[in-house]
Amino acid sequence: MALRQIRKLGDPCLQKVCKPVKEVNQRISELIEDMLDTMYDAEGVGLAAPQVGVLKRIAVIDAGEVYQDEPIILINPEVIETDGEQTDYEGCLSVPGKVGTVTRPYYVKVKSYDTDMDEYTIEGEGLLARALLHEIEHLDGKMYVDKVEGALLTNEELAEILKKEEEEKGSEDGKKK
Ligand code: NI
Repeated sequence: MALRQIRKLGDPCLQKVCKPVKEVNQRISELIEDMLDTMYDAEGVGLAAPQVGVLKRIAVIDAGEVYQDEPIILINPEVIETDGEQTDYEGCLSVPGKVGTVTRPYYVKVKSYDTDMDEYTIEGEGLLARALLHEIEHLDGKMYVDKVEGALLTNEELAEILKKEEEEKGSEDGKKK
């Protein structure tokens, strides 16, 4: 297991357009393994190569229960279709301890290559769609913080808001009875 250092917001690597992968050689295979280790270690849903300082069009995603059990490996991914809309909280391993509200398509279809450089398509809804779009944007030097509606919140502030919402919901339910 090899962990790589995650670059933080402000690092120039996070603002660059990454280069397409031509072949999956030993170095790229190791990079992908390290990215998976690093993502799991940091308890993230996704990680893009520029976040570990490598300017190549590679990203890994594991959105848990919403898509099988296998991590998704994206090489030279392209968004080919989107539909609907969702607004929810979003975070990024390069912006630790913060979350913000972002509106994105609810559905996305992505064309990508696997580690054999065979083309495949993947569809996602909800969290998986959000993760696919978020990671693919990293490959073009874009960060979710530029899309946030309102302020970036700390995890503590978010917990406070969710607790309040839960209480309000509870008192509404109480009134109905
Ligand atoms: Ni991110």
